[in-house]
Amino acid sequence: MRITLMGPPGAGKGTQAKRLAQKAGVPHISTGDMFRAALAAGTELGLRAQEYMHSGRLVPDEVVVGIVRDRLAEEDCQQGFVLDGFPRTSAQAESLQEVLADLGMKLEAAVNLNVPTEELVERMTGRLVCRSCGANFHRRFHQPTVPGKCDACGGELYQRQDDQEETVRERLQVYERQTAPLLDFFEQQGLLVNVDGRGSMQEVTAAILKALGMAGNDQHQI
Ligand code: AP5
Ligand code: MG
Repeated sequence: MRITLMGPPGAGKGTQAKRLAQKAGVPHISTGDMFRAALAAGTELGLRAQEYMHSGRLVPDEVVVGIVRDRLAEEDCQQGFVLDGFPRTSAQAESLQEVLADLGMKLEAAVNLNVPTEELVERMTGRLVCRSCGANFHRRFHQPTVPGKCDACGGELYQRQDDQEETVRERLQVYERQTAPLLDFFEQQGLLVNVDGRGSMQEVTAAILKALGMAGNDQHQI
């Protein structure tokens, strides 16, 4: 499986990328998670990304492309990968093709998750994230068993700074301006796969696997 998950902020890219990567036994590569980890660790990359992320704007292309290039060159990506949140600009899409060609690989599909705007806002403003392991929950749609604690590791749950409603609206505008045009690019390449991102998380995973022609496959065939 060598795919990227596209779609606006809150569409479920992270949720679905994690599930698909687990099923396929390949790494889940989220640029947003990489920046948040760098920020938590106080590295130079994190400090550089911080001002962009907190205001809902995109981190400059040269910074993002560099970290994705290094990550895709690692051994565990040889058997495949699920990208989440990359590419987000035409420059990033072109760089991705070059990076993959250099590594002798090709993207198999760009899966676009479609969700109405008001549902996106509700999903993001209610999202809770584990400070320790990064697992996602939601105040209404995916409640933790013990309030404020992660089901997976017991870590503290927090609200992402960019999930305040005002920043959420800015991120949606940035998506429309800079990322939505990429859907045409992938369509022209015959790689675009549109999937309805509404319904339960399990239903959306099943819809993606079906659209990719992988429904009913077990782990070893994906
Ligand atoms: P990033 O972390 O990638 O955020 P995003 O694209 O804005 O998307 P989200 O993570 O908010 O949403 P998602 O689609 O992953 O949805 P999720 O599964 O969490 O980027 C953050 C920032 O980093 C950017 O603004 C930018 O500054 C920077 N950045 C990252 N990549 C970059 C790049 N390539 N170039 C430049 N800058 C970059 O789901 C959302 C919520 O809904 C969760 O609470 C979840 O539990 C819930 N949910 C999920 N599925 C369902 C469902 N089916 N039903 C009900 N609830 C659901
Ligand atoms: Mg995400």
